Amino acid sequence: MTADLFDAAAMYDDDYLHFFASSEGDSAPTHGPVVGTAYAATSAITDLVWRLLDLQPGMSVLDLACGHGTLANALAARGCEVTGLDSSAVFLDRARTDATAMSVDVEYVLGDMRQLPAWTGRFDRLVNWTTAFGYFDDPTNRTVLAEMARVLRPGGRLAMDLDNLPRFLASYTPSRITATLDNGDMLVDRHHFDPLTGRFEVERTVVRDGRARRLTFLKRLFGFPELRDWCTAAGFTTVTGLGEDGEPLNIRHNRMIVIADLP
Ligand SMILES: C[S@@+](CC[C@H](N)C(=O)[O-])C[C@H]1O[C@@H](n2cnc3c(N)ncnc32)[C@H](O)[C@@H]1O
Repeated sequence: MTADLFDAAAMYDDDYLHFFASSEGDSAPTHGPVVGTAYAATSAITDLVWRLLDLQPGMSVLDLACGHGTLANALAARGCEVTGLDSSAVFLDRARTDATAMSVDVEYVLGDMRQLPAWTGRFDRLVNWTTAFGYFDDPTNRTVLAEMARVLRPGGRLAMDLDNLPRFLASYTPSRITATLDNGDMLVDRHHFDPLTGRFEVERTVVRDGRARRLTFLKRLFGFPELRDWCTAAGFTTVTGLGEDGEPLNIRHNRMIVIADLP
């Protein structure tokens, strides 16, 4: 496995849940594009995933990089057999607690998307939501796509939700306040986009209870044709680009949803 480009455990921790998954419910950042943040699996998002993945009760679904389980739990509540894999033990604890509260059964697995368990051909569907792809160097990002194809059954379908590159760059700012809470806690981000690598790097200052700490994270941004070609190279055949409303992708969409089918 190649060296990590950032410390995911430092990024996806209790502070992240504090800002984006409060007990009052998840919240999306209000300024600019979503940057490595989870937004709630509202019923509208669950409806969209259900429709785009052509889900039926009883289907086996892998939520890859499932975070704190909002979407996994919502899909299980609608009758799917859901497995959620994530590298953050803190997030999985929260996901399990919420699953119990919702009386749903989800198999939560601590793992690494670069090397999935011996699940070859196991899943009918795979969902990878809220910019949960593109954290590594390009050969490794492509390995993740190959792992997705491996764990899907023949005829299986993948749905990924990512930033829509043209829209993202149109609203690019060198820095922003990404989240503020009523008690004064806040996240302040400085941004750097490298067009040579396609990587968007963020230096984040987390201010919580009067203390500040710094972390960095990054993600790869994709134009649709590039990711379509990567999906094709990983074994997917039909690859479609949509926006957050499920309509064909255009430059006004905030999100790029990629639907890819295995033969
Ligand atoms: C932006 S969050 C999205 C979470 C979730 N899909 C959602 O929609 O709320 C990205 C997730 O990727 C997970 N992650 C980061 N690196 C990972 C890895 N190598 N393997 C598995 N999960 C990873 C993080 O822990 C985090 O939960």
